[in-house]
Parts: sequence; structure tokens; C-alpha cells
Amino acid sequence: MAGYVVVGAQWGDEGKGKVVDLLGKRTDMVVRFQGGNNAGHTVVVNGQKTILHLLPSGILNQDALCVIGPGVVVNPFVLFKEIDTLESQGCPCDHVKVSGRAHLLMPYHVRLDELEEARTNNKIGTTKNGIGPCYSDKYTRIGLRVCDLEDWNSFSAKLKATLAMKNEIIVKIYGGEPFVYDEMLAQFAQVRKRLLPMTIDAVDLVNNALEEDKTVLFEGAQANMLDINYGVYPFVTSSSPTIAGVCEGAGISPRYLKRVIGVVKAYSTRVGSGPFVTEQINEIGEKLREKGGEYGATTGRPRRCGWLDLPVVKQACRINGLTDIALTKIDILSGFDEIPVLTGYEIDGQVIESVPASLEKYAKAIPVYKIMQGWHEDISGIRQFEDLPDTCQEYIRFIEDYCKTPISLVSVSPEREGNIVLHDLI
Ligand code: GDP
Ligand code: IMO
Ligand code: MG
Repeated sequence: MAGYVVVGAQWGDEGKGKVVDLLGKRTDMVVRFQGGNNAGHTVVVNGQKTILHLLPSGILNQDALCVIGPGVVVNPFVLFKEIDTLESQGCPCDHVKVSGRAHLLMPYHVRLDELEEARTNNKIGTTKNGIGPCYSDKYTRIGLRVCDLEDWNSFSAKLKATLAMKNEIIVKIYGGEPFVYDEMLAQFAQVRKRLLPMTIDAVDLVNNALEEDKTVLFEGAQANMLDINYGVYPFVTSSSPTIAGVCEGAGISPRYLKRVIGVVKAYSTRVGSGPFVTEQINEIGEKLREKGGEYGATTGRPRRCGWLDLPVVKQACRINGLTDIALTKIDILSGFDEIPVLTGYEIDGQVIESVPASLEKYAKAIPVYKIMQGWHEDISGIRQFEDLPDTCQEYIRFIEDYCKTPISLVSVSPEREGNIVLHDLI
């Protein structure tokens, strides 16, 4: 019984890709369980950077089977492009399997996402990859699934009916360009040829592996502050990036889960709209962005940057029952005399230590900071905790004490090897 989970503990982009790649060396299978190509997970090996959107970040470890699980929304064109790029770089992708239960993210989902964002002047600031429209169709029960491609006649009929309805919305509500059914059908005939041979029953595959005591790593995309239930609604994504999403989106029992690792960036970033209490719209934010290379791995948008928000991380610890924290990018904090860390929100004269449900309340929160002493040394080459500057050690211990969760890994550079391991994770 050996399931391990890696989830984001803030607003995404914490470094999940790096952690999954690192742990992937010791796993038999890596499974994505939610989200789609809104994710951008970066892996750096021998100076070469690979950004993964749909493929699990274990892909560079050729021994681990890579599974795109039932809870993922799959844009097949993005998937094929990602595979082609990797294969052209000498990384075979025969070990990629896709669940028949996964929903197909269709071209009209992308267009509707773009049109809605344009209509509302980028209200949510989505990645415009069609994630919300695809999950909406899933829950409205009009989605098309990967397994629907098996019966071509039935797929064609379903596509015809759905596309007619989507075209009405595209044209009449948004004044957009409709899709041509015959053209889309022809495209999906090609998709079918390539996708069906990769399609498996993921429930069987993953559960067999767990029953055979293999090591299975579940890779989250996004994070708890983007969770459809626990994020700051509506500035969220349309899936459950937390532990609940693992059982739902991979079809497994929680009893298999041995460790749940939350990836925490040593400061905060977010992409897209919505309140962000510790945001630094000043030279501090710019310094964090430039030093940390904080530009979206999926959209290239500059990420909004700010200090660490500990109630957000604590919420991730609780919702996910984190057994471990992997703390990343602490090297980026070198060079500040003082580093504020948010420990509470002052709202209407009261200090609270949990993320409020109400958007309006959260938006008016005044940050309550604990000021930590900074350090100036370059720490990216350090591999032992004791060799870190004392103030850096205090920063790490403060997070651990606040969250009551052990920090098992401290990442100090983007490279696979750039880590201080405090407790073995697998
Ligand atoms: P993900 O979406 O959670 O996988 O994270 P992203 O890949 O979108 O963003 C994390 C960025 O930080 C990537 O560019 C990583 O290469 C980089 N990174 C990860 N860990 C570290 C670290 O410890 N130090 C530094 N300097 N960069 C890191
Ligand atoms: P990874 O896996 C950071 C954000 C978008 C937007 C909101 C909704 O790399 O951490 P969506 O396209 O999902 O409907 O957009 O969620 N968002 C992310 N932000 N990292 C991500 O993924 C994200 N995926 C979605 O910017 O605010
Ligand atoms: Mg990312």
C-alpha cells in the first residue's frame, strides 16, 4: 500500500513539477488526477528545462508509467504536441496512458473560455485553455469522454448535437465564429486513431499497482487556493486540486495514501485576478518576480508576487492532511534585510488566522506580519540544513511551527539535485 500525493499548497506554481520529477525516480507510476493543460509544471535536468502541461512530471524518468487519470480534462491536440516535442528531444513517451473516463477538452471549450474572458474583460484571468467550459459540460452531463471515441457512430452523433448547441451560444451570445461540424469530425477521426491505442482502464491499472504494493505518485495541478470549494471563489479553477481530488479523479481509496506532500513556495505568487493580501505592487514584488523568474509557465503572464501567507499554507495542511512540506525557492529570498511573513488577517478590527469564505471579507483583510530577519548569502549550493544561515534556518522552522507540519525537503535551486533533504519522502 504505497500511494504518495504531491499537491500545491498556495496558488499554484510552487514547484510541484520539480518535486514530482525528483520523487518519480523512486516510483512505478505517476498519475495526474485533475485539471488539464492549465497546468505548467517545470522540470530542470542537467540545465535543460522541460515544461509539462498534461503529461505527468514523472515522464522524464523512463521507468515510471505515466497515467492521465479519469478526473483530468484532456485536450488531445495539446497532448499530442507535448508528446511529439518530447519525443523529438529523445524522450520516448510509450509509457503514457490515458483514462477512457477522462473528458475530452474540445476546441469549442477553448473558444468559449476565450470569449467569456473577453466579454468580462478578463474577470477571472483564466488560462483561456477551456478548463471551466469543459468541466461545466462534464457536470451538466453533456461532455464527451475519451472512451466515447470507441463507438464512432455514436461519437459523431453526440458531437453533432453538442456542436450545434455550442455554435448557437458562440454566435448568438458572443458574436463569435462557429465551428464546422465536418471539419471537427475529420480532426477527431485523426485523434481517435492516435488516442485509442493509449487508452486504458485507469481504475484497474492504478488499483492493480497499489494492490501489488507498487509505489504510485499522484501529481496535483493548481493548488488549494484555486480549489473550486476552498479557494477564493470565483477566482478559482474548476476542479479539486486537493487530496479529495485524488480519490475522485484517480478512482482509488484514501486508505492507500501513505504520505501527502504539500509544495510550499517560500513566498507567494498568483496568476490571474482575485484578492491577494500579501501582494507587493512595488520594487519588492518586482525583485521577487525577476529573481524568481515568476512568469507563467503556461501563459507567460507575469505572476503577481508577495510575501508568504501562512494561514493559506495552514489551510492546505488541514484540507489535505499534509504529512510533509516540500519548501521551494527559498534561495530567491536571499538579499532581503527583513522578510515579513503573514500570520493573520485583520478584518473589521478582528484578527483571524484562517482564510475567510467571503470574497468581500478577504479583499479587505489587512495583513498582520511577523517580521523575520533575512540573509544575504547565496544558498543555492547548500545541501545540509546546518549549513544554511541561522536566519534562514529560523525562517524554515517558523513555517514548520506555525503549520505544525514537518518540512522534509528544502529546494534551493530549479535543478533536480538542488535540495536539502531533511526526511526521505519515499
Ligand atoms: P508548478 O506549477 O508547481 O510545477 O511550478 P512551476 O513550474 O510553474 O513554477 C516553479 C518555477 O520555479 C519553475 O521555473 C521551477 O524550475 C522553479 N523552481 C522550482 N524549485 C525551485 C527552487 O528551489 N529554486 C529556484 N530558484 N527555482 C525553483
Ligand atoms: P500549476 O499546476 C497557477 C489560475 C488561472 C486563473 C484561475 C482559473 O502550474 O500550478 P483556469 O484556466 O484554470 O480556468 O484559470 O486559475 N491557474 C493557475 N495558476 N498555476 C496553475 O497551474 C494554474 N492553473 C490555473 O491563472 O487565475
Ligand atoms: Mg505551474
